[in-house]
Amino acid sequence: MKVGIPKETVSGEGRVATTPDIVKRLCAKGFEVCVERGAGRKAAYANAAYTEAGATMVDAATALAADIVLMVRAPDAKQVAALSEGSVLLALLDPWGDGKIFKALAKQGVSAFALELIPRISRAQSMDALSSQSNIAGYRAVIEASARYGRFFPMMMTSAGAARPAKVIVLGAGVAGLQAIATARRLGAEVESFDVRPEVKEQIESLGAKFIELDIGETASGEGGYAKELSEDAKERQQQALTEYLGTANVVVSTALIPGRPAPVLITEEALKGMAEGSVVVDMAAANGGNCPATRADRVSTKHGVTLVGYTNFPSMVAGDASSFYGRNLFNLLSLMVEEAEGEEAGPKLKDFSEDEVTAASLVTHQGEVLYPPKKA
Ligand code: NAI
Repeated sequence: MKVGIPKETVSGEGRVATTPDIVKRLCAKGFEVCVERGAGRKAAYANAAYTEAGATMVDAATALAADIVLMVRAPDAKQVAALSEGSVLLALLDPWGDGKIFKALAKQGVSAFALELIPRISRAQSMDALSSQSNIAGYRAVIEASARYGRFFPMMMTSAGAARPAKVIVLGAGVAGLQAIATARRLGAEVESFDVRPEVKEQIESLGAKFIELDIGETASGEGGYAKELSEDAKERQQQALTEYLGTANVVVSTALIPGRPAPVLITEEALKGMAEGSVVVDMAAANGGNCPATRADRVSTKHGVTLVGYTNFPSMVAGDASSFYGRNLFNLLSLMVEEAEGEEAGPKLKDFSEDEVTAASLVTHQGEVLYPPKKA
């Protein structure tokens, strides 16, 4: 069975779906691996490293025609047309987007899996690409903030004078937020954080940060570590309470999101006005409208003296490790999808995708049908 790794075509994408290390593991499992020439270049994985690991370097058409195609982002129209009927595609397919890609993949007869839909259960942790990439993004967002903030993060005592530590506020303490807290702490900043799920207080404190207690009249713990949407009243209270609080921050990293919903507004124009000149806001939810409506996706801008960073692909800025973690997520998912055939047809063989809760939940197109969002009974 052939596994193909094409080059990513989404603008600015530096990651690759499989690293040489994963190629070795795929070959050991009995797969034949073909990688498009140059697919790993932006993530600093050379063609020679893939060949040494056991892959064959091929052209785009050959990589896309494989039985199983591994990608980071959704294929473009030309790539979809080159996928084989009955093949399997694993990628981050943006299931909450406009759905056009699902229609195209179904029409092409591809069984596609959207990595975003892997359930957040302990057994599937090793396949959870959203978490592995958010973790990296949380780290990189703080590095970006520290580079754009014209002062130190740590306290500095020098013969030329002393500098106070920066105060960093992290809004939303899920996967990206907790890593942002940890990274800002490692850099020596004073860190405070708020989340609508009160159970994360302990995790915030265990990283050496302070949990911000805001009385907004309700909490919003949902299923699987995700939040529920707040009532309109609570949203307004939260904005007001935060407006006062954010004026004390030098750097804000905002990560608040409920999957499939527009990002909640947490940083109003009023709040920006209250922040000191030179402060930095990294709005990690920029791709979904932003926690700060003034943020522009994929841009760095300035409003009321505050630098607003709206990059939507931080993992790609740490492409080497992001590809390595993502590749492992894919390998673990693929391992769940295959079994070892015996006899003449010895080698890996695909199982029935409906057999396992993880593959069933992430399968979005199959046998010409679009399966996501699931039809209501
Ligand atoms: P997550 O679901 O683990 O964390 C989101 C957190 O926000 C949860 O703890 C939730 O309780 C909290 N939250 C929801 N509504 C809130 C509110 N009104 N006030 C305060 N907290 C609230 O998600 P994850 O994986 O940490 O991702 C966070 C964000 O980062 C998402 O917007 C995601 O799309 C984005 N992201 C951005 C990247 C980039 O390159 N810009 C890369 C990866 C993720």
